[in-house]
Amino acid sequence: MSKALQAVRGMNDILPQQSTRWQFVEERVRGVLEAYGFCEVRMPVVEKTELFRRSIGEVTDIVEKEMYTFADRNGDSLTLRPEGTAGCVRACIEHSLLVNHVQRLWYGGPMFRHERPQKGRYRQFHQIGVEVFGLEGPDVDAELLVMTARLWKSLGLRRLSLQLNSLGTSEARARFRDALVAYLKEHFDQLDEDSQRRLDSNPLRILDSKNPDMQALLDAAPLLRDYIDDASRSHFESLCSLLDAAGVDYRINPRLVRGLDYYGRTVFEWVTDELGAQGTVCAGGRYDGLVEYLGGRATAAIGFALGMERLVGLLESQDVPVPDRSPHLYVVVVGEQAQRHGLLLSERLRDALPQLRVVTHCGGGSFKSQFKKADRSGARYALVLGDEEVNRREVGIKPLREDREQETVSFDALHTRVAHLLELV
Ligand code: HAM
Repeated sequence: MSKALQAVRGMNDILPQQSTRWQFVEERVRGVLEAYGFCEVRMPVVEKTELFRRSIGEVTDIVEKEMYTFADRNGDSLTLRPEGTAGCVRACIEHSLLVNHVQRLWYGGPMFRHERPQKGRYRQFHQIGVEVFGLEGPDVDAELLVMTARLWKSLGLRRLSLQLNSLGTSEARARFRDALVAYLKEHFDQLDEDSQRRLDSNPLRILDSKNPDMQALLDAAPLLRDYIDDASRSHFESLCSLLDAAGVDYRINPRLVRGLDYYGRTVFEWVTDELGAQGTVCAGGRYDGLVEYLGGRATAAIGFALGMERLVGLLESQDVPVPDRSPHLYVVVVGEQAQRHGLLLSERLRDALPQLRVVTHCGGGSFKSQFKKADRSGARYALVLGDEEVNRREVGIKPLREDREQETVSFDALHTRVAHLLELV
């Protein structure tokens, strides 16, 4: 026998016992997004490579070393999307969604980055992303953050903390960059290899370094906030006071810079220390220049993306209960007549009670073996149907999760009794 094939490293199957948690997150997030007036947009998983080069930035980790880029059969360079913002902006420009319109959009799905896989970091991972176009004031920044706080509440997650910073305008960042580079050059020997390499290409990212040997050096580095322009400063102050008024706690982290080039002004991350090294579950910020840079009319924009794997991991580690999706009923059918009636009765039950989950046994077998399967399915009740029951036009209802006698009801009374037992009315 040849060796069985395995999935690509860093790309995971989401198995049935995990998918209930995924569905729980997706449903709750969708509910909250709809409550704030967001509409879904679905973009292709593949885009032209140039889109990501231009929007994420040539000298970012993503573009330099993490993209899944390939030549299409006709020679075009295409890339599996490493994130959703670029494609969303491209779609909005292409379909003129931004002309005199505020848009509140969300999308979900797989993203691809060739990173070193570890817990919470994968090569195919899933995001739910949110983008708002056409609003430049701090009120929408605050609304998005209040909405994320509501998301955590609705998911039953605790102990997530919000880190905030302002990157100012690109001119302010350029002045800061000069000061930072001058400072780091003075201490070049104390920089690790990665940071020495970044000094010319992307010095701001050095501030993100987690290397403990460099923390003292970075703590003493110039601070971005000392270089920020007045308009950005007042935008940030208004955002902070709106968050104070809304009761959303946050910490200003002057070293938060984010790894994508399109950001300016507000940036933020929701983090937990309960997931090990990959503790950012949601991240985003303003990118007021990107729409124009990609060929659209100048449009203010802000958004964020949630990492699904990390949120699901946190639900698991915080033991958040998720709704049980096991069947309510498992229909045991022994005998030819019973099988035929079992199929029809299950259909009638589904017609009468649309929320009901019913598995009808297929494949024959004795009562004993079918009851074993009923038990393993997680169902609360077995409906028992042998040819004798069919002749009497009756069904047995056997509780599988509590110590109670089996009862018998007529075919006609079945759906009323089931609805009552399962409290589906
Ligand atoms: P990002 O910080 O690159 O931002 O990713 C957002 C979130 O996706 C991260 O906080 C993390 O939870 C999750 N994530 C990223 N990479 C991985 C990975 N390799 N494995 C598992 N999870 C991962 C963006 O992608 C921006 N497009 C967000 C945004 C939207 N900004 C404005 N609008």
